Amino acid sequence: MVFRLWLLLVLVLQLEQVSCENYTYSFTAKEIKAYKQEVRELFYFGFDSYLEHGYPFDEVKPISCVPKKRNFKDPNDRVTNDLLGNFTITLIDSLTTIAVLQDRPRFLEAVKLVERTFPDEDFDVDATVQVFETTIRVIGSLLSSHQYATDLTKAVYLGNEYDGSLLRLARNMADRLLPAYLTYTGLPVPRLNVKQKFNFPDFTDSLLAENNVAAMACPVFEFTILSYLTGDSKYEKVTRYAFDKTWSLRTHLDLLPMSFHPEKLTPYTPMTGVGASIDSFFEYALKGAVLFDDSDLMDIWDVAYESLRTSCKNDWFFANIMADTGQLFVPWIDSLSAFFPGLQVLAGDLDDAIAKHLMFLKIWNTFGGIPERWNFSPPESLSSSPSEDLESFDLNAIIPLEWYPLRPEFFESTYYLYRATKDPFYLNIGVHLLRDLKQRFKSNCGFAGFQNIITGELQDRMETFVLSESLKYLYLLFDEDNELHKSASDVIFSTEAHPMWLSQEVRSNYKRKAKFSDLTYSSHLEACYERDKELEAKENTLRGRIVGFAKSIFTQDEPDETPTDAILNHKINDKVPSICPMKPSHVMDGDSWYSPILSKFRRLFEIDTRYAATLIKPAHMQNYSAIELEPAFYSRWSNPQFSTCQIMATTEIFELIFDLPGLHQLNPLISDNETITFETFGGRSRLNIERIQIYQIDHYGELITASTFRNISRRDIYSQQCDTTASLYSPTFLYRVVAINGHTLPRHGTVHIKEHNFVSASNNTRKKDVLIIGSVGINDRAQLMIECTPIINLILV
Ligand SMILES: *[C@@H]1O[C@H](CO)[C@@H](O)[C@H](O)[C@H]1NC(C)=O
Ligand SMILES: *[C@@H]1O[C@H](CO)[C@@H](O)[C@H](O)[C@H]1NC(C)=O
Ligand SMILES: *[C@@H]1O[C@H](CO)[C@@H](O)[C@H](O)[C@H]1NC(C)=O
Ligand SMILES: *[C@@H]1O[C@H](CO)[C@@H](O)[C@H](O)[C@H]1NC(C)=O
Ligand SMILES: *[C@@H]1O[C@H](CO)[C@@H](O)[C@H](O)[C@H]1NC(C)=O
Ligand SMILES: *[C@@H]1O[C@H](CO)[C@@H](O)[C@H](O)[C@H]1NC(C)=O
Repeated sequence: MVFRLWLLLVLVLQLEQVSCENYTYSFTAKEIKAYKQEVRELFYFGFDSYLEHGYPFDEVKPISCVPKKRNFKDPNDRVTNDLLGNFTITLIDSLTTIAVLQDRPRFLEAVKLVERTFPDEDFDVDATVQVFETTIRVIGSLLSSHQYATDLTKAVYLGNEYDGSLLRLARNMADRLLPAYLTYTGLPVPRLNVKQKFNFPDFTDSLLAENNVAAMACPVFEFTILSYLTGDSKYEKVTRYAFDKTWSLRTHLDLLPMSFHPEKLTPYTPMTGVGASIDSFFEYALKGAVLFDDSDLMDIWDVAYESLRTSCKNDWFFANIMADTGQLFVPWIDSLSAFFPGLQVLAGDLDDAIAKHLMFLKIWNTFGGIPERWNFSPPESLSSSPSEDLESFDLNAIIPLEWYPLRPEFFESTYYLYRATKDPFYLNIGVHLLRDLKQRFKSNCGFAGFQNIITGELQDRMETFVLSESLKYLYLLFDEDNELHKSASDVIFSTEAHPMWLSQEVRSNYKRKAKFSDLTYSSHLEACYERDKELEAKENTLRGRIVGFAKSIFTQDEPDETPTDAILNHKINDKVPSICPMKPSHVMDGDSWYSPILSKFRRLFEIDTRYAATLIKPAHMQNYSAIELEPAFYSRWSNPQFSTCQIMATTEIFELIFDLPGLHQLNPLISDNETITFETFGGRSRLNIERIQIYQIDHYGELITASTFRNISRRDIYSQQCDTTASLYSPTFLYRVVAINGHTLPRHGTVHIKEHNFVSASNNTRKKDVLIIGSVGINDRAQLMIECTPIINLILV
């Protein structure tokens, strides 16, 4: 099962890049090579600037060309000190990018510099740092670099010029961080002082107060790799306990609140989503499942992803919702969640990944980066018509957090999508990201992201992920022939983009010979398991059984009841409200080259319309054209023969939520004939229902015709609730399911729910008791009805 995911990527790697030199704008092998070379130069510009102006401190300030140091004077300066432990962290975190560039001389040089910087192979610094960040940036990079240095098949293999120093350093750091787990609950505290080796750290209240899900769960990935490479299983066992324990704190909807008090286990916030504080939890459930061939982690991923899809998938993004009710909690998404489409590619959910990634492209087009937070639903007073009064419009209302420090997540998911689709669309995005890096963000001594995306003011800071992630993914996008793309064993990127793999030999050695001999940690874990047993007896969650709320999530303007001729003839012309922008004119010569997403994806411009109220360009972006509309690219890659332009929908979509006792089916059967079948229908289910009328344009961009309205019955077979005398009637509107639990239906798709299960889900054997659920009924066509209006494609079978 695990390898179903990887298959997709492996297959696409075999495809040849075909060149097409004759077009004015196309991606030839030569061009791609030139882009790759440019990224390489940009990386070395940043890295060498650090070496010259930042080393031996943690970072270099890209504008002022001085080191950015840990603030030893003010221990409470957490923004600086959480990350910067005086570990030369830019040097360490960048090692694997040099390895990805396959530059052996520079890799050897950098490894030797690390060795000279830490002659005692010891991170003996009096510094309190974040456990999670230090794990992913320091330990992760050291482990990956060690793998590179010792793997005969890699270009940067160092042979006898390397003696394992990086692995020893990684272990030294891990031993310094592991005491964070010696809490009553076994969940780590967020920060600790790395100098206090093996002594139970002197935790103060403020250090203990809050830890997020990603930080509590995720070190398991790096620590498990460390266990494989050292044969000491304590790193895996201690962190794996915390991972599983964290998952056990989920609500009855299988959603995890984003942060907890690590000692009391009480949630700090009811909010959940896929962004900051929880992002890497999903990432490492899936990536750990693949790298460690671990079916328990895969089960966690399957459940976690399904519940996300069911509860928080809001069409173009995953919204931030309440973990206990599934209701929308805050109307914004954050920058970090841009990684999620990449993860969906790994999970094999390519269609949804393509859609979700597009949202971030539109954000990039608008703001020139991905703001830390973007509000998709501005306050009422602002939403009326902001474009008429741009000057006075307050962008702060739609950008609650206005910085963009060149985070890598959008680069990352663009890379994954290109590997999976080979659509030049994604290369074109890469070309523009490269151009932006050169023209907008390249500074005196490195890359400066936005301090304020609204004003365009830059930030005198270059976080380590710029060199270790953003530029690495961009390079790999253009490097078809990279050894990672041809590797025999699965290569998994850590959350900090450090490539990880495990040889068969390492795996079997670990399985046979792993030891756990550290008494401190073994007795600690025993005590944790003991307490869990006591708790288990008390566990009990009650489930609701009533239909949830139905609320409109997307309302268009009043539909036009009288269709124009154009609509009736079903032709698209200027009179029809369309959501396609004016496409650049272009000439095609019959060649079949084109970008599938540009030509075939009907909803390419839907976001521009739907979120027009909050996708507003700041002044400094006025001249920036949408990446997907760049004329030369567009005319080269879009094929008018296949191009479709979606007409704007005039229907309305709302949500219907069921919360029923009984089993929730994780993976409903999706058959070729466009039927989704649910054997059981317990737990939380969320349906997106479209209310349709004759002559409206539906959500699929199609005209709704009278034939849909023929032969409709509302005769309720289990009660007298609806009008039974006139069982056939001509309704003015009907309902139709367009998505169920995050699975979108094609236009003629049908949902089948095994009736028996639906009925017994409401804990009754007599059929008529279905009506327990508020205003829901079933007609003699076996269609579910809400308030006596049939949902025409929801059939109880
Ligand atoms: C490209 O141009 C050359 C010279 O004009 C021509 O011989 C060749 O057939 C063209 N190739 C394609 C793919 O159109
Ligand atoms: C921080 O690192 C610098 C450079 O290696 C070193 O000179 C300094 O002593 C370190 N400071 C502390 C408090 O460890
Ligand atoms: C946009 O382009 C116009 C015309 O070339 C120029 O006058 C203006 O200064 C530009 N604005 C920005 C923000 O670059
Ligand atoms: C579609 O497939 C499902 C499951 O295989 C089957 O129950 C149903 O009858 C099929 N529907 C049509 C219209 O063929
Ligand atoms: C109307 O629907 C019923 C039940 O699905 C079916 O038996 C009947 O043939 C339909 N009549 C027409 C005219 O389509
Ligand atoms: C379901 O029915 C059983 C037997 O009548 C009853 O004991 C149980 O409490 C019911 N469960 C719910 C959730 O109503």
